[in-house]
Parts: sequence; C-alpha cells; structure tokens
Amino acid sequence: MGKLNSFCLILTCMCFLQAIVGQGHEAPALYAFGDSLLDSGNNNYLPTWAKANYYPYGSSSFPFPTGRFSNGKNVADFVAEFLGLPLPPPAMSRESEGTVTGLNYASGSCGILPATGLLLGKCLNLDDQIYKFQCLVEGELTHHFGSKRNLLNYLSKSIVIFNIGSNDIGSYPLFLQSRYSTPQQFAQILLDALSKALKILYGLGVRKVVVFEIGPLGCTPGVARTIPHLGPCSEITNQLISIYNTQLDAMLKDLTSTLHGSNFVIARYFSLGLDIINNPSKYGLTDTRNPCCTALFGTSSCIPMVPGCKDAAERFFWDGVHQTEAVYKIESDQCIHNSSFCSPLSIEELVRL
Ligand SMILES: *[C@@H]1O[C@H](CO)[C@@H](O)[C@H](O)[C@H]1NC(C)=O
Repeated sequence: MGKLNSFCLILTCMCFLQAIVGQGHEAPALYAFGDSLLDSGNNNYLPTWAKANYYPYGSSSFPFPTGRFSNGKNVADFVAEFLGLPLPPPAMSRESEGTVTGLNYASGSCGILPATGLLLGKCLNLDDQIYKFQCLVEGELTHHFGSKRNLLNYLSKSIVIFNIGSNDIGSYPLFLQSRYSTPQQFAQILLDALSKALKILYGLGVRKVVVFEIGPLGCTPGVARTIPHLGPCSEITNQLISIYNTQLDAMLKDLTSTLHGSNFVIARYFSLGLDIINNPSKYGLTDTRNPCCTALFGTSSCIPMVPGCKDAAERFFWDGVHQTEAVYKIESDQCIHNSSFCSPLSIEELVRL
C-alpha cells in the first residue's frame, strides 16, 4: 500500500511537472500577415474587387465561402491546426473581438508598398496590418494579460507568419516608370519596408517569425500564357523573385543576429514550388499547369457559381494565380517539420524554444 501510494505520488508529480514544462512548449497564438496567400476573409469587409467570398471558393473544406482565395484551407490554417489553435479569424471580422489565440491580418491584392493593389480597391497593406496589430497589443492584449510580464511572455511564445510581396513584384512593371529602376533597387525598397515592419513587431515583444519566400510567380497560368515560347515559366519574372528571395534570406539572418533573442525563419518556397510544378507525381499531383476552377479570361479569379474541377486534390493551381489546398498542405507540412525548408528552424523547433 505504502509503495503504491508513493508510486502514485511520484506519478502525480511527474504529470504535474510535465504539465508545467508542456505549457512552456506551446505557442499560445498564431498571427498571420500578408496577401491573398494567407487572407482568411479580411477583404469581405473592404470595398475591393479582390474577393473570394463566393462559390466555388472554399468548396472543398468549408460549408460556405469564407473569403479564402483557394478551394480550402491556407498555410495559416494548417499551421494553426498543428499548433492546436483555432483557425485565426480575419482581424476585420466580429469573431476577432476578444480572441487571444491569434488573428489573421492578411489582405488579398495588397502588398508591402501602399500603392500596390489599389487598382482593385481598398486592402490592408503592410503598414495597415502592423498598425492594427500594434493597437491590439497596446489595447486589448495589454488589458487581457494585466501585467507587462505576462503579455511579453505570451508575445515571445506566439508564432507569426508572413507571406507578402507577391503583389508588389507582380506590379513591378507598373512601378518601372517611377523611381525604382533596377530589379535590385526595387527588391531593396521592398525589403527595407519589410525589415522596418519586423523591427516594430520585435519592439512589441514578438520573437518567433516565419517569412515565406516569393514563389515562382512566373509559372502562374496567366503569366505563362502571355509568354508561351518561354515554356511553363517566365524566367523574366522569376529572376526578380530570386533577387528578392536572396536578399530576404540575408535580411532575416541579419535581424536574427542583431535583435537579441529573436528568431527570423525563412520558408524556402521558391524551389519547392518550382519542384512541385516540374515533378507533380513526386507530390501526388497530376496537373500543375491549369487552373482547377474556370478562371475569368485575362484575370485570376474563378467565375462565380461555376463548380471547380473534380480532381482539385491533384492540382497545383486553384484559380489563375492561387494554389490549391493540397499545395498549401505540402508547404505547411514542410515548414512545420523540415528545418531545411523553414530554416534555420522548423515551426516544430521554433515552438520548443
Ligand atoms: C527538406 O527541405 C529541403 C529544402 O527545401 C529539401 O531539399 C528536402 O528534400 C526536404 N526534405 C524532406 C524530407 O522533405
């Protein structure tokens, strides 16, 4: 009896300890920043043509269209699921009120430069997103956590993901007439602005940030069709992207080494995206060239109310620009588990820090 009692006591202690230690190893929240690659419905609340809140968007995974620019979940959603958190609701929505498990600030058509995306209407650009997050931290979250210490503990353990810049790079020809003459200069302008934003987050207490590379936009059906003789991918577009991605890598390394206690991780999506497009069967896909839904000619969006293809789970492109849920799942799995893809730390490792 005595033996059993002390055994139980030890067991209880171990469980208790594990509960404490386990707590420390969890991410209390996921915050997402970016464009349509991560948007979970912010544009539903904004006067813009860049919307995805109609059928067939979302039709593979949601009972109704949510505003996600895919047939189902995106990378922010899959990462949240891995972390055991609710899918981060759009910061613009009612659901965001009182939510402390993370929010989604991403907004389709927007980018790093305030001028990007304006042709389609209003969207949340990088500054808007950072400003909204700052208000959340200094208002609601400060109130919720009571002490500065608790707030900083929460922020330092939260995971933040970024996927932004694709629309800026896509609009590069529009910017050419202005002051950004070379691709190098243009990439630098974008990265200076992004770096400034990341430093603001660090200043607020954020420590774990994952930033996605720009994908092979030159391979999207719209671009590839305009320049067919170049094959499936436009090298011209992809060149600017590789300059940007190389500078992004250097910038994130620099931030990590200069900002004490910070972890800025790069998600090496460009090569993965290209590899999926060129070797579909390696990833269980069959078609990596054609949009699954019927995309409006000359634009990227699905025609409303027309059903998507039957084999969305084997496609790369959902509409003329965005990937299917299947591809977002591959990216997420890689970033969660593979520290060569999300480098130098996978999300799994980032959480355990
Ligand atoms: C991990 O990521 C690297 C870089 O993207 C890639 O080359 C490698 O094949 C990946 N490993 C696995 C097991 O997927």
